[in-house]
Amino acid sequence: MSNGKILAIDDEQFIRRLILNEFSLEGFDVITAESGEEGLGLFNDHSFDLVLLDIKLPKMDGIETLRRIKEISTDTEVIMITGFGDIKSAVDCIKLGAVDYVTKPFKLDELLALAGQAIKRRKIVQKNRKKVNENKKLESSEFIYCPSKAMKKVYEIVARVAPSNSTVLIQGETGVGKDVIAQQIHVNSTRKEGSFVTLDCGLLSRNLAESELYGHRKGAFSGASETKTGLVEKSDQGTLFLDEIGNIDLELQKKLLRFLETRCFRRVGDTKETQVDTRIILATNMDLYDAMKKGEIRKDLLYRMDVISIKVPPLRERSEDIPVLATHFLEIHPDKIPGMKLMDETLETMIQYSWPGNIRELKSVINKILILSDDLNISSDHLPSHLVANYQIAKSKPKSLEELEKAHILSVLEETEGNQSKAADILGINRKTLYKKIHKYQIFK
Ligand SMILES: Nc1ncnc2c1ncn2[C@@H]1O[C@H](COP(=O)(O)OP(=O)(O)OP(=O)(O)O)[C@@H](O)[C@H]1O
Ligand SMILES: [Mg+2]
Repeated sequence: MSNGKILAIDDEQFIRRLILNEFSLEGFDVITAESGEEGLGLFNDHSFDLVLLDIKLPKMDGIETLRRIKEISTDTEVIMITGFGDIKSAVDCIKLGAVDYVTKPFKLDELLALAGQAIKRRKIVQKNRKKVNENKKLESSEFIYCPSKAMKKVYEIVARVAPSNSTVLIQGETGVGKDVIAQQIHVNSTRKEGSFVTLDCGLLSRNLAESELYGHRKGAFSGASETKTGLVEKSDQGTLFLDEIGNIDLELQKKLLRFLETRCFRRVGDTKETQVDTRIILATNMDLYDAMKKGEIRKDLLYRMDVISIKVPPLRERSEDIPVLATHFLEIHPDKIPGMKLMDETLETMIQYSWPGNIRELKSVINKILILSDDLNISSDHLPSHLVANYQIAKSKPKSLEELEKAHILSVLEETEGNQSKAADILGINRKTLYKKIHKYQIFK
């Protein structure tokens, strides 16, 4: 294995040869360039751990070259090589981010030792940065295993696919825990030391999405004032999570397909391709085959994504999980008073409800209760009224036609997440009539 990748920029052929020979013998990968311009060009297809950079160069001098290297890649370490009597410029270079300098004629051992230290430091910095990224995700995770049969199946698939590199598509309604499952796959994989990088495809316009994904070179388009590393590159050795994949623009789908097939991509404004070693996880709350029929998703992309798919069932199909999750969210809440608990009737009411917003909705109900109440026994009076109304109707068989109607309207409104036009459609009445009935039954009191 290579000890590190080094770029040596010097206009003297003798120095370039010396470095190439001696550093290669010590197990480093060395590429040389005879000018600043040539050296910078090499950053298009390579990433270097260290640059050995002569200060005196024809045309673009070492100081300017250093400044640009730091713009492209702040992490790359740079050691300056200066002529005798050029100490002042060397100090300027340290201010610009070079780690050290040697004066010509230099002792090879000295340069080798400095180079070794610089590369070691860079590797530690990179490792720590990855850890910080990862911890940010995991510390905030309040994960709990859901005990239902349906979820056990999901966890089994997670355990089976996590160690492999295969692409995984996670499907499920909003709030069922797709993000959480994606993170579980990452932390149970051999890539767990690498970064878990998320891109929400739904939030991005096409141009932005491409440069977010693949990065761009400075000046690639107006507004690109700096060279930027894309998320794909940041996920090298780790996992790239493409969330809301159903919302991705058709044009970008073509580019994404190529990346999924080859793991190669091109930064916006670049001519050369770069390859990364990344695990891809995708998530969507859409029916992608439906979207394909409508022409919103390319067929080839869908087949490429749908290698292994995990369907996370909605909460209403796994009611055993409801009390477990509700109790868990209560327990981990910072405002929880010792001894506080959800009464049986409260749990029953929760089980009866259909949770269109799934786990996210359940969590927010518990959070609201904790903000509003300091009773130790949390009765169903503390629950939002639509949950209780739903429960009472379910429990006591409705006596009148009106009650039945109210219950039906309520459940349809839940289905449509409060969208009255959709609800009116389903109920087969016009919006005005629905509005009158909502008013009559005081549904949104
Ligand atoms: N097993 C679990 N343990 C603890 N919390 C969970 C679990 N599953 C989901 N949650 C919580 O439920 C909420 C919704 O989960 P998540 O964001 O993963 O859902 P999603 O399916 O990605 O939603 P969306 O479709 O809106 O993106 C989050 O706050 C998450 O922390
Ligand atoms: Mg999500």
